Amino acid sequence: MKRILVTGANGQIGVELTRILRDSYGRDNVIATDIKELPEDMDGPFRILDVRDANMVHEAMERTRADTIIHMAGILSAKGEEYPQLAWEINIQGIYNVLEVARIKEASVFFPSSIATFGPTTPARNTPQDTVQRPTSIYGISKVTGELLCDYYHIKYGVDVRGLRFPGLISHKALPGGGTTDYAVHIYYDAVKHGAYTCPISAGSYMDMMYMPDALDAVLQIMEADPRKFVHWNAFNTSAMSFDPEGIAAEIRRHIPDFEMRYEVNPVLQRIADSWPDSLDCTAAREEWGFNPRYDLTAMTDDMLKRLREKLTGE
Ligand code: SER
Repeated sequence: MKRILVTGANGQIGVELTRILRDSYGRDNVIATDIKELPEDMDGPFRILDVRDANMVHEAMERTRADTIIHMAGILSAKGEEYPQLAWEINIQGIYNVLEVARIKEASVFFPSSIATFGPTTPARNTPQDTVQRPTSIYGISKVTGELLCDYYHIKYGVDVRGLRFPGLISHKALPGGGTTDYAVHIYYDAVKHGAYTCPISAGSYMDMMYMPDALDAVLQIMEADPRKFVHWNAFNTSAMSFDPEGIAAEIRRHIPDFEMRYEVNPVLQRIADSWPDSLDCTAAREEWGFNPRYDLTAMTDDMLKRLREKLTGE
């Protein structure tokens, strides 16, 4: 990667990824793009880009002479259930336009897939890398389609397209937008602000999660990996921990003993959560490119609460 175009640079992952890419590859070699303007403190090259518009995507690549596209633009699972047509357009047209321009310009691509590509008929525990994928959310359906399209462009046209299946990502910088796993971010904010949280996901619903620093490292690592060890190219299972709402609440109580957890289960989110795995098998990622996350639930909770206290209360 020498000149990198990031789509969806304003999203939960995009904001942080753009910053660390700029640290590693130089400010001017990382072109942030999004459908919305970026926060003011993000200085560096930026273009408005709607990934649904093939001409805009081609022009952005032409003008910036990027050799790599990190394609983070997308609609997540909960928002996708509200706007299925929009989710399909952005998620499918977006990856198609990106792969097409990569084919023509001989660029490399990063594609973020998700635990959402699995469904109720997938083995829920220690979910294998290669297994049944019959998701029931539009987001999951769009991401499986994206995975297959990435395989197709790699096999047919030799496009260097790599990617990960992300679990829920937890971070303290930008808020997530419209995912089923977002509760695991909001719970920390509400713990610091109010000492209590009303959870939309029921106790006992386990999902895979990862702290943002590990997710960012994983993107850089796979994009710089020597592909001679690859058996898979994209859609690697990645996860650093699996917990249910009670598990994360218990960790928060180590720091905030009176923390109070209430439940108001949202049936749409719950249905999605129930259809996803409890815990992924990440052996392929470890063996093929050295995936090695550093944060478990305890270490993540220590760091999240410390950082959010600084951010929200100035402590
Ligand atoms: N965090 C995503 C979501 O909940 C999963 O990829 O939609």
